[in-house]
Formats: sequence, C-alpha cells, structure tokens
Amino acid sequence: AAAAGSGKTAVLVERIIQKLLHKESPADIDSLLVVTFTNAAAQEMRNRVGQALSQALEENPGSHHLKKQLSLLQNASISTLHSFCMEVVRRYAYMLDLDPGFRIADTIESDLIQQEVLEDLFEDWYGKEGEEQERFFDVVDRFSSDRSDLDVEKLVLDLYTFATQNPWPEAWLNQMVEMYEVKEGMGEKELPWLNLLKQEVHSQLKAMEVEAKQFLELTREPDGPYNYGETVDQDLEMIQHAKGALEHSWEELQSYMGESKFAALSRKKMDCDETKK
Ligand SMILES: Nc1ncnc2c1ncn2[C@@H]1O[C@H](COP(=O)(O)OP(=O)(O)OP(=O)(O)O)[C@@H](O)[C@H]1O
Ligand SMILES: [Mg+2]
Repeated sequence: AAAAGSGKTAVLVERIIQKLLHKESPADIDSLLVVTFTNAAAQEMRNRVGQALSQALEENPGSHHLKKQLSLLQNASISTLHSFCMEVVRRYAYMLDLDPGFRIADTIESDLIQQEVLEDLFEDWYGKEGEEQERFFDVVDRFSSDRSDLDVEKLVLDLYTFATQNPWPEAWLNQMVEMYEVKEGMGEKELPWLNLLKQEVHSQLKAMEVEAKQFLELTREPDGPYNYGETVDQDLEMIQHAKGALEHSWEELQSYMGESKFAALSRKKMDCDETKK
C-alpha cells in the first residue's frame, strides 16, 4: 500500500526481475503468478517486465535464459485474479465435472436463475408436511406481511448474499444458528446476540439522554416552552433509570420499561417562542 505513482509497480517489476536473474536458481517467468486488479494493470505489468528483460538482455546478449524468458512472457500468468481463476477452472474443468465450454453468466441471467431456484424452493417447502411444514410456516409468519411472502424471499436472498461474502458461507451460516442456541443454565452475558442488542439499546438511550438534556435546557430559556419542563424532566429521569437498569441486566430493563410510560406534554397555553416549542 502506497500513494499513487510512488513506485509500487516499479518495486514489483524489480522483484520479478530479480527472481528471473537470480544467480544460483533463476526462475522461469511462466512459473510465477502475478495478479493485478485490472486488465490494464496486467498489460502494463507485462510490458514493464518485457522492457526490463530486454534491457537485461542488452547488457548480457549471450544469455540463453533471458531469451527464453522473453519468449515465455506472452504466455506467463500475468493477469487479473479473475482471469487467472477462469483459466484454472477451464483447464481443470474435467476434474470439477464442468462443461469446459462454460461461460460466466451476466447479472440479469444469474438473477433470473436465482429467482427460479427460490420459487422452486418455496414451493417445495410449502408442500412439506408435519414438523418441517410447521417450522417453515413459522418463518413465513414471522417475516412476511399478510399479503405475500416476498419479504421472506428477500430475506433468504439477503442472507445468501451476505453469507457468500464470507470465505466459508456454510460455516458462517451454521455459526449464526449456533448463536441462537440457548443452553440450560446459560446467563444472559453468554448470549452473543443479546450483547449486540444491549449495545444498540445502550447507544440509543445515550442519544435520547443527550436530546432530552437539550430539550430541558430549552424549556429553561426565557422564551422557552416552560410548561414542558416537568415532562421532559421526567423523561430524562426515566431514560437515565433505563440506562442504569440495562447495565444491570436485560431482564431488569425489560421489567422497568414494562411498568413505565412516557408522560404526555402539557396542553396548557403558554407564552413562548413558537420555534422553540
Ligand atoms: N525508485 C525509483 N526511481 C526512479 N523512478 C522511479 C522509481 N520508482 C518508480 N519510478 C518511476 O515513477 C513512476 C511511477 O512508478 P510506478 O508506476 O511504479 O508507480 P505506482 O505506485 O505503481 O503507480 P500507480 O499508483 O499509478 O499504479 C514511473 O515512471 C516509474 O518509472
Ligand atoms: Mg502501478
């Protein structure tokens, strides 16, 4: 990692050349894998390695090794990571049980295939019986609106997309399931998702506290909405109490919130700045 134009490519080219010119064990260019982000960068890399080789050959015109490198250069693996992967998959397609004539689907095509698979899958699950069906219906009930199960389809796709960003999607998915397993005798501190939820609630309560304090200041200004002061004061107290309860335990917060209510603002007429109100 270095600034644009600072010499990254120059350093890489130099390292490649040093490997090719190594005194005891000179490497062949086609035994190296050089990957770049873009096709243009790959082309530039190939050109610059070529130039460096030509220069080395000028200094050492009799070198058979250097002449060989120049001729190997066009077929050397200097490419984007994607084209390298394509080449590997195509070359070893027979080991992967793939048609070597495969091509990469464009996004419209793959979206269509995805949609088709998803629909088939849902149809399949709707046709299940017994416990499996119950479980599926439970998911649909929880995550869809009454009209359609589009939300559930989207959820499955989002989950799929997110999972595939991980190096081991299935392991990641299984790990997610494990997070929800509550074993006997487990304390609330050991529930990973609850800790995330607590952090989220904590930061929201903190933000509410800041707002309530600003609000309270406003009610105390000379032309402020003074009649709201009492309510805001109560709000602030409640928010702070909730924060304290959360630090103690989720259960305590839950029971505190269950028995508390935000008071309504006073409806009494007051003489104050309308904007502040
Ligand atoms: N050590 C150096 N001495 C003299 N010139 C250098 C040196 N390193 C790089 N250069 C020159 O600086 C210019 C930019 O170098 P290079 O292309 O390697 O940078 P880069 O970091 O790869 O740039 P980019 O971010 O655009 O890919 C080139 O003209 C290169 O020849
Ligand atoms: Mg560069």
